[in-house]
Amino acid sequence: MNLSIISLFLFLLFSFLADGARILAVFSFCNHSHFWLGFRLVQELAKRGHEVTFINCFPQKTPIKNLRDVSVAETKDAIKEKLSELVDFGQKSYWGQLEFMNEVGIIYTKEVFSSPNVQNLLQSNEEFDLVLLEHFMNDAMVYFHHRFNCPLVFSAPGPSSVLNNHLSANFAPPSYVPNLLSDHDSKMDFWERLTNTYLDVVGGINIHYSAIPNQAALLKEFFPTAPPLDDMLYNASLIFTSSHVSLYGPAPSQQNVKQIGGYHVPPVNPLPKEMKEFLDNATEGVVIFSMGSNLQASHFEEDKKNAIFKTFSKLKQKVLWKFEINYPEISNNVKILSWIPQNDVLAHPNVVAFISHGGLLGTMEALNHGVPILGLPVYWDQMKNIADAARRGFALRLDYKNLNEHNFQRLLTEILTDANYRQSAKKQSRIFHDQPVKQIDEAMFWLEYVIRHKGAPHLMTAAIKLKWYQLHLLDIYLFIATIMSVSVFIIYITAKKYSISSGEKIDLRNKTK
Ligand SMILES: *[C@@H]1O[C@H](CO)[C@@H](O)[C@H](O)[C@H]1NC(C)=O
Ligand SMILES: *[C@@H]1O[C@H](CO)[C@@H](O)[C@H](O)[C@H]1NC(C)=O
Ligand SMILES: *[C@@H]1O[C@H](CO)[C@@H](O)[C@H](O)[C@H]1NC(C)=O
Repeated sequence: MNLSIISLFLFLLFSFLADGARILAVFSFCNHSHFWLGFRLVQELAKRGHEVTFINCFPQKTPIKNLRDVSVAETKDAIKEKLSELVDFGQKSYWGQLEFMNEVGIIYTKEVFSSPNVQNLLQSNEEFDLVLLEHFMNDAMVYFHHRFNCPLVFSAPGPSSVLNNHLSANFAPPSYVPNLLSDHDSKMDFWERLTNTYLDVVGGINIHYSAIPNQAALLKEFFPTAPPLDDMLYNASLIFTSSHVSLYGPAPSQQNVKQIGGYHVPPVNPLPKEMKEFLDNATEGVVIFSMGSNLQASHFEEDKKNAIFKTFSKLKQKVLWKFEINYPEISNNVKILSWIPQNDVLAHPNVVAFISHGGLLGTMEALNHGVPILGLPVYWDQMKNIADAARRGFALRLDYKNLNEHNFQRLLTEILTDANYRQSAKKQSRIFHDQPVKQIDEAMFWLEYVIRHKGAPHLMTAAIKLKWYQLHLLDIYLFIATIMSVSVFIIYITAKKYSISSGEKIDLRNKTK
């Protein structure tokens, strides 16, 4: 009796402590994938009774309880204009690609800081218990947590990588942790380790000597009295990464880095009636085809489109194709729609393959439902996502630029006929789901943990305060090398002197004799 009263009291206390926290979530990049990664978190926080203020680009049309949008939708045009230069991204050097992303980041951060809604919020006397910030080329936005004097949690829209490892001093030796922009497996030969090291080192130099200084200058421009950017940037209680061992394999991780990859996959909703019928009827199986928002119909080359049409019309399976424009029906096994509820259709038991550009969200959704992928990666992390899925046996890769009828038909046939792909997809899917708690619940636990403890400096390693040469012990090696060379030098000099002086002594002795 007493015990149950105590536990009831504790329960109420804890739900009170974590309940009704005021959270500022900032996922303001104008791109639906990035928005969605934030939305899943705030949706769940609001459901649990927290009051969430959500700076984002896609405000809700029908309000959600406990969720208040602070819209930066007006930043869309500036971002879109800059991103239109993405067409020749693949032709840029590695440094050029990083610099391009930095430029996007400066435009993006500036736009958000200038947004009237954000300015109003910053000038208000509102208070928050936590800032949850998407880390995406927007370092200066850590100012939010300083302004509201509360703990900071980062959410990375991808796995741990050179882009975010410094935020937690996460350790990722290039000898066996492949760079985000490489195709490497974790087992690398000499040349792969060399290129991997190059990618990590040059990436690190870019971040510390270009990206962060530029963001720091932007911060000074908007908030002249703000503390140095580094003081705020290296102050995060936690970092969420969108990665999972079932896709990327194991890698070391600091205690305040939480791998919650897959949390964005929502529970499956019932399908619209007609779509359900189409899938139910497909007794030979259905192929889902979606290139996300990457490949607008207008950018799709005619020959590639025809290669796809021809291949599809020869299939005995049905095809559900997400494409922006309405196309005349190419053959009666193919259905083209401008929008499909991707996660809900992937859950359908008749789905036998997913043709995708290999974005992180779609790759994880396929993994979630155990559907093999024919990946047509276009750029950035898509190559790695597909290469990693292929290494785990549930994907085949055909770089978009190499797509032709011959290749496409051969690989699609292979993935549809060889049962190994499906079995591997199911196997990795079981690993993906086999966890003490679901990814989204883990995310909720850690956010509420940080709120309960008013920050989690106890999870941050001392490494965060070390300079890079201290972290890698270069000062120690230099010291030891110096001591050793000085010792060798002294020994050498002494030995020389001794041999001279002993020679002299002999001489002297000879003389005195
Ligand atoms: C660092 O975070 C703590 C809360 O975790 C906050 O009180 C402090 O102001 C932050 N430091 C800076 C420089 O903003
Ligand atoms: C599904 O099959 C039934 C029976 O063959 C047919 O009447 C119906 O039109 C089909 N629906 C779709 C969406 O193809
Ligand atoms: C949105 O972001 C995702 C992930 O970073 C990327 O793959 C995609 O190309 C972006 N979409 C557009 C239209 O820029």
